[in-house]
Amino acid sequence: MRCFHVQPGGTLGGTLQVPGDKSVSHRAIMFSAIADGRSRITGFLESADCLATLRAFEAMGVSFVRDAESLVVDGVGRDGLAPPGMPLDLGNSGTSMRLLSGLMAGQAFDSVLTGDASLSRRPMGRVIDPLTAMGAHIAGSEGQRAPLRITGGRSLQAIEYTPPVASAQIKSCVLLAGLYAKGVTTVHEPGVSRDHTERMLGAFGVALSRDGAALSLAGGQSLRAFDVAVPADLSSAAFFLVGASIAQPRDGAEPLTLTGVGINPTRRGVIDILDRMGADIALTNTREQAGEPVADIVVRPASLRGVDIGGRDVELAIDEFPAIFIAAACAQGTTRLTDAAELRVKESDRIAVMADGLAALGVEVSVQPDGLTITGRPEPHSFTGGQIHSHEDHRIAMAFAMAGLRASAPIEIDDCDYVDTSFPGFVAKAGAAGLVIDAREQGA
Ligand code: S3P
Repeated sequence: MRCFHVQPGGTLGGTLQVPGDKSVSHRAIMFSAIADGRSRITGFLESADCLATLRAFEAMGVSFVRDAESLVVDGVGRDGLAPPGMPLDLGNSGTSMRLLSGLMAGQAFDSVLTGDASLSRRPMGRVIDPLTAMGAHIAGSEGQRAPLRITGGRSLQAIEYTPPVASAQIKSCVLLAGLYAKGVTTVHEPGVSRDHTERMLGAFGVALSRDGAALSLAGGQSLRAFDVAVPADLSSAAFFLVGASIAQPRDGAEPLTLTGVGINPTRRGVIDILDRMGADIALTNTREQAGEPVADIVVRPASLRGVDIGGRDVELAIDEFPAIFIAAACAQGTTRLTDAAELRVKESDRIAVMADGLAALGVEVSVQPDGLTITGRPEPHSFTGGQIHSHEDHRIAMAFAMAGLRASAPIEIDDCDYVDTSFPGFVAKAGAAGLVIDAREQGA
């Protein structure tokens, strides 16, 4: 297991492309695998999470071939998956497990979905309940956790369903099961969640309708092959948006430009929150790429101020709070986050883990059940040095790496192999942009 060592100071500048979008890459694999015909995926994120999805489909008889620019997928059709003959190990990936549970519920064969210790702690009742209501048979281990044992050959019935929380994973799970169900499945969204599933199913030829917060699709539809160009992941870019904003300004320093980043309106909360905090972020060259809006993002250092964050902000920036908390710690004034209890069931309890890490670096923070309050330290050294426990959560590790830009002494972050779940090559990219970081064997 590697840990990160970050030296204090430095600045971020130059042009950088972060890797492909994780959510879009998962869906590109799943939908091309069950489509009729050959799809090409460019910009696919070769991270541990997305490769777990890919291997699951390989185990079910789908062939993926890499050529110079793309991943070529020969779809087997909606009913063409083969029994895997072994448990499908989805590692750390909640998206793989929750979306696949919907897909596997509609298959003729049994399957078992497993994951690592973190994934096995995460709530799966949120997908087991609606799938059971559709007629699926899914047995979780105690407390509705992974591994999930899914009995195949059940005939599914369409349902109308309102998830207990706004979640793209629950919505996508139910819609994917709906493709195999009799009748029209409708999901009433209780809030905003990322809409990559709807966009991409549409591109793969599935008729899906939206009426306000209700999304419906008829069962029995087939997908036809489509070439997906995956944008760079805004969730990975977020660490750099924050880093380039909090770095100390230097005369004549080049800004940081992040190229080809997805700015889907259901995902772009981090840009809007940083904007409200006074960040200097400009979107240029805005364009459309395979049904998703993308832009180049130019960031310069700025004096940030604390803000109140809650409600819809949380839905639109659900994965970006570790990075946003680092920005808040450098801001003038107080940042208060509410309505964010969902952060407690991500790859780690991101409220508790971030609060502990911020406190370890000398930041005043108080924790509430659904959020936290951070008192910013706008001085040049907003953080002391110190030891951070990432709790095997990729985004905690990358967020605290950026704290080095405003620290008075080195920061060491443990258990950083998990960064590869979403951002392979993070250390090299961050180093090239100006962060003074290296990865070492833990304890060496
Ligand atoms: C994701 C949905 C979100 C997000 C996760 C990826 C997706 O989870 O946090 O990182 O790809 O659908 P929820 O649906 O649980 O909010």
